[in-house]
Amino acid sequence: MARYLVTSAIPYINGIKHLGNLVGSQLPSDVFARYLRARGHEVMHICATDEHGSPAELAAQKAGKPVAEYCAEMHEVQAELARGFRLAFDHFGRSSSPQNHELTQHFAAQLAKQGLIAEVVEHQIYSVTDGRFLPDRYVEGTCPNCGFESARGDQCDNCTKQLDPTDLINPRSTISGATDLEVRETTHLHLKQSQLRAELSDWIEGKHDWPLLTTSIAKKWLNDGDGLQDRGITRDLDWGVPVPDLPGKVFYVWFDAPIAYIAATAEKFDDWERWWRTDKGADDVTYVQFMGKDNVPFHTLSFPATIIGSGEPWKLVDYIKSFNYLNYEGGQFSTSRGRGVFMDQALGVLPSDYWRWWLMSNVPETSDAQFTWESFQAGCNKDLADVLGNFVSRVTKFCRSKFGEEVPDGPMGETEQALIEELTRRVTLYEGHMQAMEFRKATAELRAIWVAGNEYLQETAPWAVFKQDPVHAAGIIRLALNLCRLYAALSVPFIPDASAMLAEALNTDLDWPDDVASALDTLKPGHAFSVPENLFAKITDEQREEWQQTFQGR
Ligand code: MF3
Ligand code: ZN
Repeated sequence: MARYLVTSAIPYINGIKHLGNLVGSQLPSDVFARYLRARGHEVMHICATDEHGSPAELAAQKAGKPVAEYCAEMHEVQAELARGFRLAFDHFGRSSSPQNHELTQHFAAQLAKQGLIAEVVEHQIYSVTDGRFLPDRYVEGTCPNCGFESARGDQCDNCTKQLDPTDLINPRSTISGATDLEVRETTHLHLKQSQLRAELSDWIEGKHDWPLLTTSIAKKWLNDGDGLQDRGITRDLDWGVPVPDLPGKVFYVWFDAPIAYIAATAEKFDDWERWWRTDKGADDVTYVQFMGKDNVPFHTLSFPATIIGSGEPWKLVDYIKSFNYLNYEGGQFSTSRGRGVFMDQALGVLPSDYWRWWLMSNVPETSDAQFTWESFQAGCNKDLADVLGNFVSRVTKFCRSKFGEEVPDGPMGETEQALIEELTRRVTLYEGHMQAMEFRKATAELRAIWVAGNEYLQETAPWAVFKQDPVHAAGIIRLALNLCRLYAALSVPFIPDASAMLAEALNTDLDWPDDVASALDTLKPGHAFSVPENLFAKITDEQREEWQQTFQGR
């Protein structure tokens, strides 16, 4: 068995994430980590809240709370939502933790030792009205790259270009709207990442098996000559990891946030170095990161520059799985306009399995994808209620009425043999897609595995057979009950609650099938079970219309 370190991009602290954010990092990383665990691998699955920087300060200000208090509260809110969606992190940490302060300062000191840090007198935007410098999101204006009018000082949301506040055309303060901005001098630390260009370029060029989305973004920034400019890693802010010897300054949020992957592991586990230091046992770890496409430059260039530049044997990522965007009903999700479904609202509408299934079977893997209530209703009703739920309910109820609540005894024949062969082939395909993190293909294969059970029932028609040959019908039902168990085991990564309910009703443990034939012979004649409650309810047209209304935004 192998060892896997899995991290999800850490969500910003300022506000509750929408379904597009969820499906772009935390959910797929959970599905993958659950799959690896089910296969018996040793897994460390880490996420955290991203608590520093101007967005956090601005949100706290808006909420009228001290920033530390705001972050502590919002961390709890996000942790609770993660539990609600059954995101099984080994730890959900905080980038504001003492461990992250220490590690961030450590990396900065190491980079300085390697000659990769310069003290630079910068020209930064100063707002006379606000009486302060305006880093990052404290300033907005027009993107010099694409002309988008609400580009933020740190990055353009429209074209994903990383920006400097002074790059913006027609800048204005996001605190006061003031435009009486001037450029003043202030001293900052710069990371000389251009010196690492050759090493980073070789590293990325060697990643032939990475998703095209990841490597194309990485190479674009690398070869633009733009992504690897030396960059400021400190800011004129109060909240963050203090910069030793530069009072009043903190490290830039994008410098300390990825380091929080390491720090979050250290928050909880004393032996964290086993996962993160190749000189301390992490040399046999496979490290996989999950993120949306806007995060790719930071994970293919900036964070690796920190790791490589440190000159210490830290674990570098082995595979970066990135995602496109999920849109909402023909437009974008919008936090400010309350458009779309946010994580807290989603759980008020339906339990997490429905969301997990629909989102993963429509994950924006190869292009942007779109959430519509119609597609959601159709997907859940067809796959979960009609195919899986209906199969389980027909089999268990039929058994109860004809044979009682225990597995009946009966023979197997050629139809069963053919089914086993089909499932053996499909389970191998499913495993291949999961291992490759090709989640659309994986969900399609899992659905096909569920469908095969329905077709088997259709073909063998135990309810008809029962009248002439009850023993034969018993054989069919014994196999079908074992199919329910197989489905519960295979479905754990996507719909963990339904799987657990099913396992409980079937009075069984779940393990991954080594071999389909023996997996389908696990529940023996005489094994007691109970009929589970309806696993999935159908979404009605009235419900769909009501939700469409509720979430259309202002
Ligand atoms: N908070 C960022 C976002 O939501 C992601 C940070 S990922 C990390 O886009 F690498 F910085 F950790
Ligand atoms: Zn732009």
